[in-house]
Amino acid sequence: MPRQVRVIGGGIIGLSCAHLLQKAGYAVTIIARDFPAPFETTDPIAKINYTSPWGGAHNRWVPPHPSLPAHFTRDHALSLRTYTHMQRLHATHPHTAGITFLKGIEYLERPGPEYLALSTPSSPNALDLPGFRLLAPSDLLRDGRVTWGCEYDTWCVNPMVYCSFLLRRFVHRGGKVVTREVTRPEEVFSMSLDEGGLAPAPDSKSESEKKGEEEKGEEEGIVAAVVNASGTGLVPDPDMTVTRGQTVLVAEGCDATVTRQNADGSWTFCVPRGFDGGTVIGGTKELNNWDVKPSAEVREELLRKFTETYPNILGGGGGGGKRRLTVLRDIVGRRPTRNGGPRIEGELVPGAGFVMHAYGLGGRGYELSWGVAEAVVEGIEKHVNGEESKS
Ligand SMILES: Cc1cc2nc3c(=O)[nH]c(=O)nc-3n(C[C@H](O)[C@H](O)[C@H](O)COP(=O)(O)OP(=O)(O)OC[C@H]3O[C@@H](n4cnc5c(N)ncnc54)[C@H](O)[C@@H]3O)c2cc1C
Ligand SMILES: *[C@@H]1O[C@H](CO)[C@@H](O)[C@H](O)[C@H]1NC(C)=O
Ligand SMILES: *[C@@H]1O[C@H](CO)[C@@H](O)[C@H](O)[C@H]1NC(C)=O
Repeated sequence: MPRQVRVIGGGIIGLSCAHLLQKAGYAVTIIARDFPAPFETTDPIAKINYTSPWGGAHNRWVPPHPSLPAHFTRDHALSLRTYTHMQRLHATHPHTAGITFLKGIEYLERPGPEYLALSTPSSPNALDLPGFRLLAPSDLLRDGRVTWGCEYDTWCVNPMVYCSFLLRRFVHRGGKVVTREVTRPEEVFSMSLDEGGLAPAPDSKSESEKKGEEEKGEEEGIVAAVVNASGTGLVPDPDMTVTRGQTVLVAEGCDATVTRQNADGSWTFCVPRGFDGGTVIGGTKELNNWDVKPSAEVREELLRKFTETYPNILGGGGGGGKRRLTVLRDIVGRRPTRNGGPRIEGELVPGAGFVMHAYGLGGRGYELSWGVAEAVVEGIEKHVNGEESKS
């Protein structure tokens, strides 16, 4: 019988981990309070702690550098791994996965050393950034504030289209899902999954069949590992907090995902969601801010700054374009931010078993998703093989 793994979390991280674990041959169950649902009906207050619907979500390359914490180097490698998976998924499921490949454009007012290092003639592409090209001064914005720019190839997803696609594929391949809130990882190891999830109808089996399964169930009951992909939830980790993000969804599409770093530390960006999902215009990054209400002033400022940065979104840039973007709704989300960077590591929890942590992805959950999932599979394989060689 295949070994069991239980994944806590139905966000982008839990879903991606569940997929690769399934592919590696485990019998996987996802247990979560929240699962993907249409974005249009997702309640902004009730689902505030479920971050995945509120993401953009684009891949924006973040270069590592000796002056930055070491996890940037690890995370960059994870983003490159994720890019490869996204290419493959897009090629095989161009109409259903919710992935769009497009150009990324960056305008920086105060580039840090990690960006300036990309400007030296010897280093372009040293980070393996696909399609990377520095922008010539004549390609920069004419307001004179942007001093550095680049272009590259990248991807965006429509978050709930993409997450629903992952969930559907997981179930189609025999994965189980259980909608439930849990409080401790211990409880997940011993939890009986029959009351929730996709258990067979009560009268579809004879009593003796059921009894046989229960006995077998006890043997199979060994859960090899639990994956903690709970975003911001569960047992408090003192290193966890949230970074509030306010963005605004507009109906217009856009031909690129554009990011501008402003000199005051704020950000102006757009993420086309594709698949009739409009474009997200952002956005704030407010550490430790738990406010769920969007601010109308912030919305107006985001729209103004973005249309100044990239008037193409209004259609053509010339005089013939529209003057105003069509606002569909405000978005507020909580990026699960961890002091020290995302936690991707195994832990033997006394009285429970092997927990593989995969949380605290901050503003990069989509960007790093497949890289994280690969690391989770590796960590679990290492644990399982270690156990085998002991016995
Ligand atoms: C405004 C904004 C813009 C963003 N833009 C981008 C972007 O462009 N690119 C990008 O890569 N990322 C972006 N992000 C970040 C990205 O959305 C997150 O990193 C990602 O969604 C985190 O996913 P997750 O699976 O870790 O957590 P979540 O999506 O929060 O999922 C956590 C899961 O765990 C479950 N759970 C938690 N506690 C319990 C419990 N006690 N019992 C049972 N289940 C539990 C939840 O129900 C849920 O299913 C953005 C975020 C915001 C807010
Ligand atoms: C979200 O999480 C916070 C902090 O854990 C909690 O206080 C709040 O009640 C949660 N909100 C919802 C809607 O569940
Ligand atoms: C699991 O993840 C959460 C963050 O979502 C964290 O608070 C907790 O400490 C982690 N570990 C365990 C054993 O639950």
